[in-house]
Amino acid sequence: MTRLDKFTAEKLNITRSAAKSLIKSGEVFVNSKPVTSPDFKFSDEDEITVSGSKLNSDKFVYIMMNKPKGVISASEGNGEKTVIDLLPPEMKQKNLFPAGRLDKDTTGFVLITNDGDFAHSILSPKKHVDKTYIALLDKGVDRGVIMDFESGMSLGEEILLPAKLSAENEEKTLVKVVIKQGIYHQIKRMFKKHSIEVLELKRIKIGSLPLDEKLKEGECRYITQDELNQIKQ
Ligand code: URA
Repeated sequence: MTRLDKFTAEKLNITRSAAKSLIKSGEVFVNSKPVTSPDFKFSDEDEITVSGSKLNSDKFVYIMMNKPKGVISASEGNGEKTVIDLLPPEMKQKNLFPAGRLDKDTTGFVLITNDGDFAHSILSPKKHVDKTYIALLDKGVDRGVIMDFESGMSLGEEILLPAKLSAENEEKTLVKVVIKQGIYHQIKRMFKKHSIEVLELKRIKIGSLPLDEKLKEGECRYITQDELNQIKQ
């Protein structure tokens, strides 16, 4: 059984007190009837709707996590801690996996889902969903590096899709990188080609959806339907 106010708050990404007010004002329906008690408990069979939108009909879930360092982006860790291990018990369910991998020492936005088609649609280079990172480098970038990123650099056997690189500080050691692919260690290798080392890497956005700044490292929350639409814009 799940408490209505807690569930509503999580699904709509609003505070618990905002969810309580919404429920008290009769806006939250359980099986088509308004329920005004925030502590009402419902079961998996009950259908919860707000303004005509079903909150719990989806068989798929989408979670935003701010991944800390030292945790691997995988469902099985073989002894290592995974992003799935970090999910709070009430969010854990079968078949969840991270849609795309961040290195163990990379922090930031990991999307966790059980929707394979959705994961494919944001990961496939053909779909052109931007992944935005902030990187701290051991030396500043120059025009040549920026041009190489933007022209679609060759990396090993591959010719990469054009990436965007822009400086975030005067020394040009703090940079923003936008890529459309997720090749193994891609950003680190792109800089390494120019003899630059990535000291820190954080993913801050997927598509047009930024990582929620309120999420501390290791924390997560559900992605709302509106936000899900933002990812592919
Ligand atoms: N590129 C990297 O090198 N590492 C990541 O974790 C993500 C992109």
